[in-house]
Amino acid sequence: MSAPHPDWVRSYAARRGRRSALTEERLARFLPSRRIPSGPLDATAVFGRSAPLVLEVGCGHGAAAVAYAIAFPSQDVLAVDVHTPGVARLLAAADAAGVANLRVELGDAVHLLADRLAPASLAAVHLFFPDPWPKAKHAKRRFVRPLTLDLVHSRLAEGGILLVATDDDGYAEHTLAELAAHGGFDVVVGDRPSWRPEDGFEAKGRAAGRTVTEVRATRR
Ligand SMILES: C[S@@+](CC[C@H](N)C(=O)[O-])C[C@H]1O[C@@H](n2cnc3c(N)ncnc32)[C@H](O)[C@@H]1O
Repeated sequence: MSAPHPDWVRSYAARRGRRSALTEERLARFLPSRRIPSGPLDATAVFGRSAPLVLEVGCGHGAAAVAYAIAFPSQDVLAVDVHTPGVARLLAAADAAGVANLRVELGDAVHLLADRLAPASLAAVHLFFPDPWPKAKHAKRRFVRPLTLDLVHSRLAEGGILLVATDDDGYAEHTLAELAAHGGFDVVVGDRPSWRPEDGFEAKGRAAGRTVTEVRATRR
């Protein structure tokens, strides 16, 4: 994958191996109608209406994205992840739930933000339980970093919201420090959004006794 910027470095673990038959079947059935076309995003054409657009970065198997789309039918949701089996599960769940306001991108969110989303086009960006990359030598891989905060800031409309949830105390501290250094957001540590299901990495973190930090950053 080529770099969209000199500071780009992959924020996810490289995965090898064959896709399962179930993943292949889900992708074949559901991806064509939910994937966004290549090139710059024309959200009005894709969703068939003009509505606030929410991007979920690193959606995993999509429980939060599907729940948000159901809870807020007047908004549109774009969920992005590089993890094919996760996106395949999301697609099956979205189909079962019958949500019309959810689309997916199978790929790197940095490329999507940099090359395909217009400035001020997003109402919110959700980043739930990003890979913590706890070792110092891997810290450059954390999704929250100056390059991505610049991209998120520019793609959010004024007053748009970045939500970050993490069960890794080091990542919470890192996020707050990076947001403070960026300076373009009003930041509060807030409550857990009631619409988000306790699922995926949140459920794992809570089961292991970890505390979840919820960061809400509003674009100035
Ligand atoms: C720890 S998992 C959390 C998944 C989900 N949000 C949850 O709470 O269960 C982090 C996810 O972010 C994805 N990810 C990391 N960096 C990404 C990037 N640059 N673009 C797209 N997805 C990314 C990974 O593939 C992984 O599925």
